[in-house]
Amino acid sequence: MLRRLYHDQPETFAFTPANQTWAEGQITKYPEGRQASAIIPLLWRAQEQEGWLTRPAIESVAKMLDMAYIRALEVASFYFMFQLQPVGSVAHIQVCGTLSCMICGAEDLIGICREKIADKPHVLSADGKFSWEEVECLGSCANAPMAQIGKDYYEDLTAARFTELLDELAAGKVPVPGPQNGRYAAEPLKGLTTLQDYDSGKTQYNASVQLAVDIGDTIKRIDGTEVPNLTPWLGKGANASAKPAKVDKPAKKAAPKPAAKAKPVGKSNPTPKAKAAAVAASAADGKKPRTMTAPRKAGADDLKLISGVGPKLEGVLNELGFWHFDQISKWTSAEIAWVDSRLKFKGRIERDNWVDQATKLASK
Ligand code: FES
Repeated sequence: MLRRLYHDQPETFAFTPANQTWAEGQITKYPEGRQASAIIPLLWRAQEQEGWLTRPAIESVAKMLDMAYIRALEVASFYFMFQLQPVGSVAHIQVCGTLSCMICGAEDLIGICREKIADKPHVLSADGKFSWEEVECLGSCANAPMAQIGKDYYEDLTAARFTELLDELAAGKVPVPGPQNGRYAAEPLKGLTTLQDYDSGKTQYNASVQLAVDIGDTIKRIDGTEVPNLTPWLGKGANASAKPAKVDKPAKKAAPKPAAKAKPVGKSNPTPKAKAAAVAASAADGKKPRTMTAPRKAGADDLKLISGVGPKLEGVLNELGFWHFDQISKWTSAEIAWVDSRLKFKGRIERDNWVDQATKLASK
């Protein structure tokens, strides 16, 4: 397939502050002068943030790494894991169409994608929530047929279960990933024949599924606030605020400039002056919606039912005074701007259409 940049591109790209810090942390993994090695993780993070890889994102990452834009574009257009066109706002479904999966029913899954999402791959569904594609073997052949959705594998699928999964995702739920037929992992279908005393019951799910469940939302866009220690290789206790200092180090040695170049792209390490200006700007940004000091007596709504809101964001919304769907459903554009500037996820509320989602959830 010819992989080209999408015809309709946004004007700009910027990592969220948390993702910017994460990206700067990644660069510290590589020796001086080899910062370009961080190209894949940075492009991937940009895609996780935006849903797909835009031209401004590729340019921005190239600039951070002091690379020629064409070099970054070569990487982005070579690897199929990079989506060069918009994907569904809820999920992009990648159905494995290689041997084991094909033998075990992948064609049925693809048929369902054609029916429920769009007739052709890489085309958005009518409501913009889904897109799909057929991919090569994803290495989960013992659990065929399977599909990757977000970061996770949904395995041992049947046509009926796959249809249900899509319906659940459309309803704002995040189905538990992993085997969908009751298997723990990839053990024989009829049960273990060896290592029968192995205690797999230490966690409810196998390790990768457990991690996905613990994060709470496996298909959400990654804003950088998910994992507290983003740079474990810098040692215990290293945190987001410690990283930019590390990135600055090579810049002091005159020759390589990636760290110095990184700063204008993001705004995670502003000077006090810039910080004050940012605070003033954000104060002027939008209009404060009506907030509450506590949820109503009946209890707070589960704001995580809004696609794009995970446990972390729900906590922030609660801290700001939002506990109920009907509060969010009344936000005006000015109020969205006010909340947006406090959540530091530029454009996310509108992109994921929180107001419409909240209106629907409030009317249930
Ligand atoms: S053939 Fe589908 S995961 Fe390997």
